Amino acid sequence: MVSRSISVLSALGLAGVASAKSVFGEACSQDNTHLDSATFNLVTDCDPTFYCASNGTCANKGCRKDIYPFGYSAYSFDQLPPLCPTGQFCPDEGDQCLPQVAIGEPCQKDRDNECAPPENYKDLAGFLNTNGTICLNYVCHLANVTLGQTCIVDNTAYTAYLTDGDAYAFIVSRDNCANGLYCDGTALQCMRTKKVGEACSGNKECATYNCGNDAKCGKAADDPIHPPAWKYVLVALGIIGFVGGIFTALWFFHRRNRKENQIRLEQYYNEQIAYRQSIMSMSHAKNSLLSLPPNTSPEVARSSLFRDDSGWTSATNDALLPPNVRRDSTSGWSDSDRQAAGPGNLRHTDSEVLLMHETGHGGGQRESRYADAPESSSRYRG
Ligand SMILES: *[C@@H]1O[C@H](CO)[C@@H](O)[C@H](O)[C@H]1NC(C)=O
Ligand SMILES: *[C@@H]1O[C@H](CO)[C@@H](O)[C@H](O)[C@H]1NC(C)=O
Ligand SMILES: *[C@@H]1O[C@H](CO)[C@@H](O)[C@H](O)[C@H]1NC(C)=O
Repeated sequence: MVSRSISVLSALGLAGVASAKSVFGEACSQDNTHLDSATFNLVTDCDPTFYCASNGTCANKGCRKDIYPFGYSAYSFDQLPPLCPTGQFCPDEGDQCLPQVAIGEPCQKDRDNECAPPENYKDLAGFLNTNGTICLNYVCHLANVTLGQTCIVDNTAYTAYLTDGDAYAFIVSRDNCANGLYCDGTALQCMRTKKVGEACSGNKECATYNCGNDAKCGKAADDPIHPPAWKYVLVALGIIGFVGGIFTALWFFHRRNRKENQIRLEQYYNEQIAYRQSIMSMSHAKNSLLSLPPNTSPEVARSSLFRDDSGWTSATNDALLPPNVRRDSTSGWSDSDRQAAGPGNLRHTDSEVLLMHETGHGGGQRESRYADAPESSSRYRG
């Protein structure tokens, strides 16, 4: 039982080793180096960071063809093998930099940059070639064939996969026609590329390199979106409306705040006036006491304060006063006024405090407004 599970485990381990790629110094066979049939990547026995050297072992790569090469995610950027200088190229194996080859010489699959560019490479350079050269059927060509001339096509069927795993062929057709032309697959002659909306059967036929599902040339993949003028107007109006809305809301908000503050200030002012009147009343009362006729005995003075008919008691009169206003301290000395005026006419007694009776209880909207009590304000201001 134990030996059986061990042998199963070791078999699994061997299988794992067999399927894993070799690392530095481990054996490999250059006979197994080939292009993957689906992706046309170079496949070797070695891990992607090594190549299979001629002595049959995996060796460190001496160059890289991509700025960010595959398989080096564990390495920092300055640990990567170097890029090759101008005039040289790094082959798919990545063993070492080699000089670019002349037109007509062999090149690796889709490695246009392995071909040495011509003198007039600037005239021929386009987005479907590299500095005017193109590698077709593993041979370097110039992309200089003109309209109506015989051209070479290299069709490659890549295997692409849908999200559900289904595979389909994705055909890329390349040719050596000059810019603005494509090589027709049946006539094998260079023809003018088609404009947007014209019928097409492949991306290369379109100047935009995008043959849509409706078999018509569509917009280029990197074509910027050009919104119509009315969209600009709509957006501008939206922005203006939004900003205007904010301003209006702030204006209303500020107006309400200002109003509340104004009322608060007025109330404070009225309170201060009432306070001042109260102090004045006290001072008045004191003066009244001091202005009793000379030689008045203290008993007489006191009795003048407390005698029954002076009539001012809290029980009878407090209800007539606003709750926050001090009792009229002069009432004790104004009998005649009081009797003439009667309890309903207190405002005519000698009481500055009653000002607040009017301002504070003037009724309705006016109660908090100092300016709405003209009688009191004119009487006591200054
Ligand atoms: C095999 O060749 C590579 C590259 O030249 C070298 O780095 C490696 O040391 C060699 N291995 C042996 C066992 O000679
Ligand atoms: C293409 O031309 C540019 C500009 O001269 C140069 O920098 C670049 O290395 C060339 N590419 C190749 C693959 O030769
Ligand atoms: C393209 O360039 C090659 C090499 O310079 C030349 O032999 C050939 O005639 C050119 N073809 C065209 C159509 O200009």
